[in-house]
Amino acid sequence: MTSFKAPKGTYDLIPPRSADYLAVREALSAPLRRAGYGYTETPGFEQVELFARGVGESTDIVTKEMYTLTTKGGDELALRPEGTASVLRAALEASLHKSGNLPVKLWYSGSYYRYERPQKGRYRHFSQVGAEAIGAEDPSLDAELVILAHDAYRSLGLRDFRILLNSLGDKECRPVYRAALQEFLRRLDLDEDTRRRVEINPLRVLDDKRESVQRQLTDVPMMRDHLCEACKSYHEQVRELLTSAGVSYEDDPRLVRGLDYYTRTTFEFVHDGLGSQSAVGGGGRYDGLSEMIGGPALPSVGWALGVDRTVLALRAEGIELELPAATDVFAVPIGDEARRALFRVVTELRRDGVAADFAYGGKGMKNAMKSADRSGARFALLAGERDLAQGVAQLKDLHSGEQTAVPLDRVVAEVAGKLR
Ligand code: HAM
Repeated sequence: MTSFKAPKGTYDLIPPRSADYLAVREALSAPLRRAGYGYTETPGFEQVELFARGVGESTDIVTKEMYTLTTKGGDELALRPEGTASVLRAALEASLHKSGNLPVKLWYSGSYYRYERPQKGRYRHFSQVGAEAIGAEDPSLDAELVILAHDAYRSLGLRDFRILLNSLGDKECRPVYRAALQEFLRRLDLDEDTRRRVEINPLRVLDDKRESVQRQLTDVPMMRDHLCEACKSYHEQVRELLTSAGVSYEDDPRLVRGLDYYTRTTFEFVHDGLGSQSAVGGGGRYDGLSEMIGGPALPSVGWALGVDRTVLALRAEGIELELPAATDVFAVPIGDEARRALFRVVTELRRDGVAADFAYGGKGMKNAMKSADRSGARFALLAGERDLAQGVAQLKDLHSGEQTAVPLDRVVAEVAGKLR
C-alpha cells in the first residue's frame, strides 16, 4: 500500500468500471462522427488570457476555479477549464475558417480542470465530449447539435433527462435587457457580493439559488420579453426544428450559463436522478467569441457533455451497458512445453481479432482456472503433455462446461466460428 492518494476532488478510473467510461465517450461521440464533425485535440493548458477573455473575467470559472501556473520561461498558463475557447483558438490558428467550407465542425474528448468544491458529480478533474460548429449562423445548426446530444443520451438508454432551452439575445437586444435587469436588481435588498454581481454580470443573479434572492425575483424582467425581431424569429425556428425532430424540450426563460460567451440559443441537459449537480451537458451559440479572442466575426454554436455525470446518470437509472467481453479465450498451459505452444496460439488468436489472455506467472492449474473465470472469458484453452503428444488442446466452454479436443492449428478457426 502507498500512502499517496488521488488528489482531492479527483478519482481514478480502474477496471472493471473504467470500461463504462470508454463506452460512454464512444456513445456520446458516435452521432458527431456521423454528422461530419472532425476529431480535434488541443493541449491540456493554454495561456490564461485565452480563458480570461473567452470564458469571461467575471465568471466563477476564471476568478475562482482555474489552475494557473507560471512557467520557468515566465508564461502564464492555465489547465483548461473547458474546451470551446481552445478549440476555437486552434481553428483560427490553423485558418480552418478560410477553407471556404463553413461551418467548420469539430469534436473533442478530454480532461478538464476546475478548482471547485468537490461533491458527488462535481470534480476538480473531469471529462467531457464536446462539439463546436464554427462560422455559420443557421438555426438548423443549433437544432442539429441539440438533436445529436439527445440521440447520444438515448443511444445509452437514458430516459430521465430534460432539455432546457432559452435565448440570451444578441448584441442588439442583450444590452437593452441588461440595463433593464440592472435597474430592477438595484432596487432589491441584496448583500454586497450580489450587488457587485449586479454591476458586473447581472444575468448570473437570475441563477442565484438562495431563497432570499429568488423571492425578490418574481417580477424580474426576462430576456424573452426583450428579444429583438431577428432573435425572436431565430429562436422560433430552432424550436420548430427540434419539435419536428421529435425532441421535446422545456422553455426555461431563466436559464443562464456559467460562461460569458453565449448569445441567442442556450441549452442544458439535466438529469433528474443526480441531485444538485444535475446538468449532464450544456452549450449554446457564441457569436462573439471569435472576435473576443482576436479573430474575425465567426458565429458559432457548440456543446459539451460531461462523461462523469453521464456515467452517474446511467447508474441512477440502473442501466448496465452491454460491453464486449474483455477476454474471449483464456489459455491455461500445464508444463513448459504447453506454455510455449499455447503462447503461440494466444498470439495467433489476438492477431486474428480474438481477445485472448494467458495464465502468466507459472500458476498451478487450480489458480489458473480461477483467473480464467475471473477474466469473464467464454472459453478456456487447456493443454498438458498428453494433449501436445496428440497435437491438440482442450477447448472448454466456460458457460456450458462442454469440452472438446481441437488440433492446435485449428484452434483459431474453431474459436472464431464459435464466437460468431
Ligand atoms: P459547462 O456547462 O461548463 O459548459 O460544462 C459542460 C458539462 O461538463 C456540464 O454539463 C457537466 O456535465 C460537465 N462538468 C462541468 N464541470 C464539471 C465538474 N466540475 N465535474 C464534473 N463534471 C463537470 C462548457 O464547458 C462549455 N464549453 C460547453 C460549450 C461548448 N458551449 C459551447 N460549446
